[in-house]
Amino acid sequence: MTRSGPRLPLSPAQAARLEQWNVQRAVDVHCHCLPGLDDGPKTLDESLALCEALVADGVTTVFATPHQLGRYDGFTTAARVRHELTQLQQALHSADIPLEICPGADVRIDERLPRLVASGEVLTAGPHGKHLLLELPHRLPVDPLPTISLLAEQGIQVILTHPERHRYLAGARGRLEAWTAAGAAIQITAGSLLGDFGALARQEAWRMVDAGVVSLIASDAHDASRPPRLSAALDALARAAGRTFARTVCLENPLNVYSGASVSGCQPT
Ligand SMILES: [Fe+2]
Repeated sequence: MTRSGPRLPLSPAQAARLEQWNVQRAVDVHCHCLPGLDDGPKTLDESLALCEALVADGVTTVFATPHQLGRYDGFTTAARVRHELTQLQQALHSADIPLEICPGADVRIDERLPRLVASGEVLTAGPHGKHLLLELPHRLPVDPLPTISLLAEQGIQVILTHPERHRYLAGARGRLEAWTAAGAAIQITAGSLLGDFGALARQEAWRMVDAGVVSLIASDAHDASRPPRLSAALDALARAAGRTFARTVCLENPLNVYSGASVSGCQPT
């Protein structure tokens, strides 16, 4: 694993995840682990606690994805994200916590996105700049199709974050399929599969799994009250949708995103 400084030994949970599922890294592409930037951890100590929870959940590599634009417009700047990322990397190293962090953002949809991405003010997700986490408003429906297409022209695949948690998308299979046909990947939140966000989000998450539109599962963890739930989601998916499907959406596709490769929906087995 590439990290700044000497390689640290993996935790038992990390080692077990890599060995049991035969992957080089266990990547979480969506996590609010940086302090003081959004509704994630308030302090560096809280960030470190969340990172320890990720390590205990088997994650080796996390994309630090604070909210950008929307109500954080002008506050969560790319420079601040990079500064906090460097600080957290140093703190992890000092505390011997074996977690690799990559820059990213959970970006609220905005008509300025193509320009802000091109200028570097809005951050793409992961080391290669080939993906962008796109969040829709929670109440007001906005069609992401033009944004998906414009960013695709810039060589960037949109990863649409947690559509199962948007009530106005409940039952919207046709829209999701149109967005994936335009090149977007669908990411659902691990906790949604487990009922952490209520019965409707759980029902929608499993409906999207069954429909074959889901590419990625991520923690979207924020703090102790919204912890990473990837191990439990991985087990639930392996039981209900097959081990191959669980490996693809929880491990293989996140690793593909880390490597800069496009991902697409996956059918349960
Ligand atoms: Fe998020």
